[in-house]
Amino acid sequence: MVSQPQLKILITREEIAKTVARLAGEIGRDYHGKQPLLIGVLKGSFMFMADLVRQLDLPLEVDFVRLSSYGAGKETSGKVRVVQGLKTPIKGRDVLVVEDIVDTGITISFLLNYLKKKKPASLKFCTLTDKPSRRRVPVSIDYLGFTVPDKFIVGYGLDFDEKFRHLPDICLVSEERKEIASLRSQ
Ligand code: PRP
Repeated sequence: MVSQPQLKILITREEIAKTVARLAGEIGRDYHGKQPLLIGVLKGSFMFMADLVRQLDLPLEVDFVRLSSYGAGKETSGKVRVVQGLKTPIKGRDVLVVEDIVDTGITISFLLNYLKKKKPASLKFCTLTDKPSRRRVPVSIDYLGFTVPDKFIVGYGLDFDEKFRHLPDICLVSEERKEIASLRSQ
């Protein structure tokens, strides 16, 4: 029998929905009269992006990038790779990057620098969750959903070894079981 890590809800689907609505309100006001390009960072942002854009009454466009620095482990390698690049030219566009989480800040800092070189008209950053206690490089967040503790979280796009992204709530993974699961995945 495969051992399943124990999960405890940290942020409920109702709290997420309320926060997504708040963020959409802020973004909608700030981008009024504009045609922003929202760039989601795969895979983690897919659910947040889907919920966010459905609440934005703007003539927006959507694109995605896929970056990787974690591989299958839980510690960042510190080296970010572009696994799948942008399909949309961003020169002169109002760009809003959408993430599920900022941890060390290494991924988003790399991406914002990468995008800045392409000369967008403006470049802002929205993240559903932030784990500031883990920060290794400074990051400026324009739209923030939740500040979360330095615990392993899954659900609503966030994974543990590619599992649990589909959960509608954001959950804490029990420490003890996580150790077991990570040993099994090696
Ligand atoms: C996660 C998350 C961010 C990044 C944050 O992505 O979606 O992109 O880690 O970590 P950092 O601030 O320490 O750089 P991950 O590489 O796990 O890929 P995923 O989105 O496919 O889960």
